[in-house]
Amino acid sequence: MAPSVIDSVAGLREAVAAWRRDGLTVALVPTMGALHEGHMALVRAARAHGDRTVVSLFVNPTQFAPDEDFALYPRRQTDDLAKLADAGVEAAFMPPTAAIYPPGFATTVRVEGVTAGLEGASRPHFFDGVGTVVTKLLLQCLPDVALFGEKDYQQLVTVRRLVADLDIPCQIEAVPTVRAADGLALSSRNAYLSVEERRIAPKLFEVLTWMATALGEGAASADAIAQGAAALRDAGFARIDYLAACDAETLEPVVRVDVSARVLAAVWLGETRLIDNVPVSLAS
Ligand code: PAJ
Repeated sequence: MAPSVIDSVAGLREAVAAWRRDGLTVALVPTMGALHEGHMALVRAARAHGDRTVVSLFVNPTQFAPDEDFALYPRRQTDDLAKLADAGVEAAFMPPTAAIYPPGFATTVRVEGVTAGLEGASRPHFFDGVGTVVTKLLLQCLPDVALFGEKDYQQLVTVRRLVADLDIPCQIEAVPTVRAADGLALSSRNAYLSVEERRIAPKLFEVLTWMATALGEGAASADAIAQGAAALRDAGFARIDYLAACDAETLEPVVRVDVSARVLAAVWLGETRLIDNVPVSLAS
């Protein structure tokens, strides 16, 4: 069955209240639409975690800088709704921008600390936009559980922080990154890659995996990063925004891996910026 399309906060609250009266639990999957198999893995996890699933589709203007791809960001409503219908999703929340940011809107949710480096350093506006919209979506829907992908690892850590700090009564569940057969993490932005760039792109995952293995076996971060960066440049990634080994919870850089850690990167292929990350498993 097709999901009900809800375009107002009042409509969303009404639908959720009706489910609650029936004793049903609710799972929320926040997205910007243009759904691919990565998003659909979150949707399947949501269906396993709650009795009813809401997927929000909202291209959030406040997380794009003026020179970024907000206007060009893919919008595919008909396709998205068909995918959500196939997956058995009950509600698609597709608010117009004015429903999220009405005239006079003046509040920003800013998470400090975990947002300082990595994406936060390369895209200073980004986490204010994400923190604000995710807080709003969680308060509008008040789900029992909300699902986020490990693909955007720093975003996941930031959402966990704001939910804890603001006492939002919602469980946050992480879903592992879904990849193409050659290792490239699925992303709406992969559509921007030329044939040649698409051929190079999986090298990112290859290099991160190599680095994670080296770190797990005791290599010093500085050495693994230097070798990883050289391998990325050789492969054709002309620009590296960051390549880092960080504590998986605090996102502080680690010198040598002895706790749970993650290798994270943002790189450019031509005009397209790709991000990815992998966990470090310690050699036993
Ligand atoms: P968007 O890029 O549409 O991603 C929505 C969710 O899907 C995020 O939690 C993201 O981590 C997850 N996701 C994307 N690609 C994935 C993949 N290959 N494997 C697993 N999960 C994947 O992230 C956003 O939107 C926005 O910042 C949002 C949280 C909706 C706030 O506007």
